[in-house]
Amino acid sequence: MSRVLVIESSARKEGSVSRQLTRDFIAQWQAAHPADEITVRDLAVEQVPHLDADLLGGWMKPADQHSDSEAAALQRSNLLTEELLAADVLVLAAPMYNFGIPSTLKSWLDHVLRAGVTFKYTENGPQGLLSGKRAFVLTSRGGIYAGGPLDHQEPYLRQAMAFIGIHDVTFIHAEGLNMGAEYAEKGMSKARAQLAAVA
Ligand SMILES: Cc1cc2nc3c(=O)[nH]c(=O)nc-3n(C[C@H](O)[C@H](O)[C@H](O)COP(=O)(O)O)c2cc1C
Repeated sequence: MSRVLVIESSARKEGSVSRQLTRDFIAQWQAAHPADEITVRDLAVEQVPHLDADLLGGWMKPADQHSDSEAAALQRSNLLTEELLAADVLVLAAPMYNFGIPSTLKSWLDHVLRAGVTFKYTENGPQGLLSGKRAFVLTSRGGIYAGGPLDHQEPYLRQAMAFIGIHDVTFIHAEGLNMGAEYAEKGMSKARAQLAAVA
């Protein structure tokens, strides 16, 4: 039995393409791995605050010096990090907003990329502390960017995942969604075919 953690980050609750991709992924994954446990964390429903002084205080100060808000921020970060640590498979849904990832997903990353917990500094530079995990990133984009210099999502997320030790990362891009019906259909059918192959 494996644990699958799905992170939703579209601000749209209806009509979201990335949510459709995660629904398809989950259905196919469950069919192929019926014993697996799937947890969905929806960042549009339960927002993760921006990294702030409370979170830094919660991480850096000893527990007996925490204010209430620092203790609460640390507790939130611990919960999110424990969910990630417990997962064998991570699925990130990432709509493209203004050439990058949603700020909600950035906030989630800011809570789980933690020195001494998910990575550590060594004499040879930073080292990821997670091992044996796979990740899938399902993006949805109005335009077409994959493999080009304006794709700031894939290189950033690959770096963030590698930094904590997740090197087995598969990207599935649904692109051209706002470029007319023909491009949108092509983009979706390519993404669906890739999804069917991985699950
Ligand atoms: C605020 C906002 C910013 C966007 N920025 C971009 C962008 O920079 N590049 C792009 O190709 N599409 C952009 N889009 C289009 C979305 O990537 C596209 O609609 C995608 O399907 C959104 O994901 P969702 O359907 O899961 O909500 C943007 C959409 C919104 C709402």
